[in-house]
Amino acid sequence: MSDIETATSTFEQVNREHREFKTMSAELRGFLDRSRPGAGEAGHHDWAAQLARRLVDLHDKLVVHFRHEERDGLFETLTRISPGATRKVDLLTAEHRGMLDEVRAVMSSAMRYSEGAELENPHLRRRLVELLDRLKEHEQDETDLMQRLEYRDLGSGD
Ligand SMILES: [Fe+2]
Repeated sequence: MSDIETATSTFEQVNREHREFKTMSAELRGFLDRSRPGAGEAGHHDWAAQLARRLVDLHDKLVVHFRHEERDGLFETLTRISPGATRKVDLLTAEHRGMLDEVRAVMSSAMRYSEGAELENPHLRRRLVELLDRLKEHEQDETDLMQRLEYRDLGSGD
């Protein structure tokens, strides 16, 4: 495969995964918008357990997606096409670590909450919404970078 073909198929794969995260985030936001039973009320444990399960799923998918971007193509392609993008790629890699740390922290908080070991945590929902906002912004940065390189360095249409 030529450089352009490799880059294009890498970008397509990443865009596909980003679309999956958009769907997953929208579902999670919908779940958070619905009312939550308070500690001690019926359904409280189910709510928190369901949240924890969704977070485990999000965490697993993020691990695979980030690893894929870091090791199997995207970041390597970006810096090969445009060495000037190295600093930005380092920043995106650091953001991956930060977001994984945060999803693990929120996940363990949700698990303690579902066990009843932790009292009502008013910040749980807000923290998760902030994390989803962060993820959205991060993926938008990656998309912008891919699009800029596609037009500038790969040359569009020739
Ligand atoms: Fe990404």
